[in-house]
Amino acid sequence: MHSLDWQVKTQRAYAKIYEGNCLEILPTIPSESVDLIFADPPYGLAKKRGMGWKFSKHITLQEGWDFFSKKELFSFNCVWMQECYRILKFGGSLFLCGSFHNLYQLGYIIQHASDLKINNSIVWFKPNAQPNISCRMFTESCEHLIWAAKNGNGQRWTFNYEDTKNLIEDQLNPKGKQTRNVWSIPLTPKKEKWAGEHPTQKPEELLRRIILACTKEGETVLDPFVGSGTTSAVAMRMGRNSIGIEKEKKYLKILKKRLTPEQKTLQEAEVEFVS
Ligand SMILES: C[S@@+](CC[C@H](N)C(=O)[O-])C[C@H]1O[C@@H](n2cnc3c(N)ncnc32)[C@H](O)[C@@H]1O
Repeated sequence: MHSLDWQVKTQRAYAKIYEGNCLEILPTIPSESVDLIFADPPYGLAKKRGMGWKFSKHITLQEGWDFFSKKELFSFNCVWMQECYRILKFGGSLFLCGSFHNLYQLGYIIQHASDLKINNSIVWFKPNAQPNISCRMFTESCEHLIWAAKNGNGQRWTFNYEDTKNLIEDQLNPKGKQTRNVWSIPLTPKKEKWAGEHPTQKPEELLRRIILACTKEGETVLDPFVGSGTTSAVAMRMGRNSIGIEKEKKYLKILKKRLTPEQKTLQEAEVEFVS
């Protein structure tokens, strides 16, 4: 079962989950209303016929939500990113998570179609990454994140420097030292998947670091592709409000289950599903 081992506060926090397509829901969220956006969007790498491997159950992603033509993916990314820019407060941060399949395109859109300032690219190194099936290239053992800030109106981004030094620790980042932009975090452990299977569920530690570094308690985090609810669960535990959007019913079931203990443990927390 799930443990709330790094719960920091019980300050009243809400988690609002919208069931539907973010292209329709984002336009209903007020401008300059959230402090942090974490987005882990479709990768556009799904293939009609995935690759199996006789030594493992690994299959390349074959989810309907990930099928796009090149042109469709680009216009989809332009639309939701433009909306995120509008919704983000001045002084807020946008974190984009992905692999080489989609992240360069997201970076291109930031640089060409927004006034966001890229602060860092972060490498999430996975020390227990899966082996390479084809043996014709290097083993993929990381994902990338782009951290961009919306400056303006006299506001600069939040960076809780002392917290990052004292509360982030891994094999590449000793406690008490400046945190590098290379983070060693293992693949999502089984104990975090107790509510059900999502093919791309992110580890809670990844979200904890982002929320810790760039928000304060009581602030609001938005995730337009919330999936199994990692962002909502972690935000709630850290006393941050959250808004999540997910369009697949099968993942909404996981999400509902996953947020229930959070709500029970944090007496003051509220969870609302909007369909
Ligand atoms: C890469 S996964 C995110 C996983 C998530 N970070 C987690 O930890 O579980 C992308 C998610 O976005 C959802 N999705 C894809 N297109 C969407 C859209 N247009 N609106 C809302 N959700 C969408 C998918 O169903 C999938 O669950």
